Amino acid sequence: MTGHDQAQAPLVLVVDDNALTRAQIKGFLDATESYRVITAADGFEALAVVQRQHPAVVVSDMTMPRLDGRKLVAAIKGNPKTRHIQFILLTALDGVSNAVDGLSAGADDYVTKPFDASILCARVEAATRVARLYEELNARTRELEQAQQELEAEVAMRQRMEADIRLANKLEAIGQLASGVAHEINTPAQYVGDNLQFLSTALTDLIAFFGEQTLALVQSGEPSALDRMAERSKELDIDYLLQEMPRALSQASEGVAQIARIVSAMKDFAHPGGADKVAVDLNHLIESTVTISRNQWKDVAEVVLQLDPDLMPVECHEGEIKQVVLNLLTNAAHAIGDKRAATHETAPGRIVIGTQQEGDAVKVTLSDTGCGISERDGERIFDPFFTTKEVGRGTGQGLPIVRSVVMDRHGGRVTFESTLGVGTSFHVWLPLHAATRADEAVARAVSPEPLC
Ligand SMILES: Nc1ncnc2c1ncn2[C@@H]1O[C@H](COP(=O)(O)OP(=O)(O)O)[C@@H](O)[C@H]1O
Ligand SMILES: [Mg+2]
Repeated sequence: MTGHDQAQAPLVLVVDDNALTRAQIKGFLDATESYRVITAADGFEALAVVQRQHPAVVVSDMTMPRLDGRKLVAAIKGNPKTRHIQFILLTALDGVSNAVDGLSAGADDYVTKPFDASILCARVEAATRVARLYEELNARTRELEQAQQELEAEVAMRQRMEADIRLANKLEAIGQLASGVAHEINTPAQYVGDNLQFLSTALTDLIAFFGEQTLALVQSGEPSALDRMAERSKELDIDYLLQEMPRALSQASEGVAQIARIVSAMKDFAHPGGADKVAVDLNHLIESTVTISRNQWKDVAEVVLQLDPDLMPVECHEGEIKQVVLNLLTNAAHAIGDKRAATHETAPGRIVIGTQQEGDAVKVTLSDTGCGISERDGERIFDPFFTTKEVGRGTGQGLPIVRSVVMDRHGGRVTFESTLGVGTSFHVWLPLHAATRADEAVARAVSPEPLC
């Protein structure tokens, strides 16, 4: 037998308290050159060997001190990890009841002593065949288990995709609603603006007229009329009104202009973006997302844009990428808010959003001066529903959506680096031209018919 075959040969454990019998049985089995044979002097020793080496077959004496054959077989067969080991009991010729005892405790076979070498070897041979069958069965079971795991992973992925699609549909519905609201606000905002413009011009004329009349009155030199006017003007605080009215009008105009900007950004943002990827100017997308979400960050931070003016358009699902930027921006604002609250800082924090071309991809970086992410949390922030925020402020769905949109839907990638107490940067790479397998799978999931 070659060394290699030796390693492959079934392992047989011979257990007997009689050293002579042990050596004799080992001799018989060794002579067949078909097995690797190890020995143990009693049941306890045998159990230790079984646990360590997992033999295919155990040949064991019935009567032994400490732990006898019946207890040994019960221990081996009672353990799910070792119960497939084939157990042959050696019993005395007159010990029929012993044999029955052993078999009922779980032994697979028995041989009576004194035994014939060829019979013993034939029984061991049969037992190794059964052991091999069990092994094959186990291997097949493991294969099936693995196939089942793969199937479950596939189902989970499909469910995630379906959730993504549902989310995309929801976003689209919200987008349409926002777009409608924006449109409704646009018209009144426009005529408020026009009227303010008119009032502002009219006021300038009125003030000029008022000045001219006052001057004429002074020049006419009629003291009683002048006194009356001075008195009345004081009563009504006309100097103050003349000073403040133009300012009030100009502030109102500024407010309306701001409303117009927000509404236009909202219309941009709410643009539903169809099922297909379209070429999108990411700089513009970022600008309108920053405007629309001003309420989220304005109390805690300033936002600085460092956008590459030569950025190429990116083929993407526009609405989803807006959601990505919005989620990262919201997290940054929260992190800065948390740090300010913890350190009683009053100066505003800083959020920097940059874009740049990197090979066949566009890289978007969003950095904040917030509280940072601990190493332990860092391993879990992309897990669905992981949040460190109180109920109502965090849902733990922001970053999983970011990950899923960037990786699964666009074949991009997302990374971050963070220093506790200093700040965090998220980096997102989006390929300029993306057609991912996940995308095709989603398309299949949406329409059961072949797409052509
Ligand atoms: N910019 C950031 N700075 C610090 N922590 C962050 C930042 N972004 C994300 N995190 C951490 O990751 C967690 C998960 O984020 P997210 O998935 O968006 O869920 P949520 O914001 O609802 O908690 C947050 O609760 C927070 O602990
Ligand atoms: Mg979030």
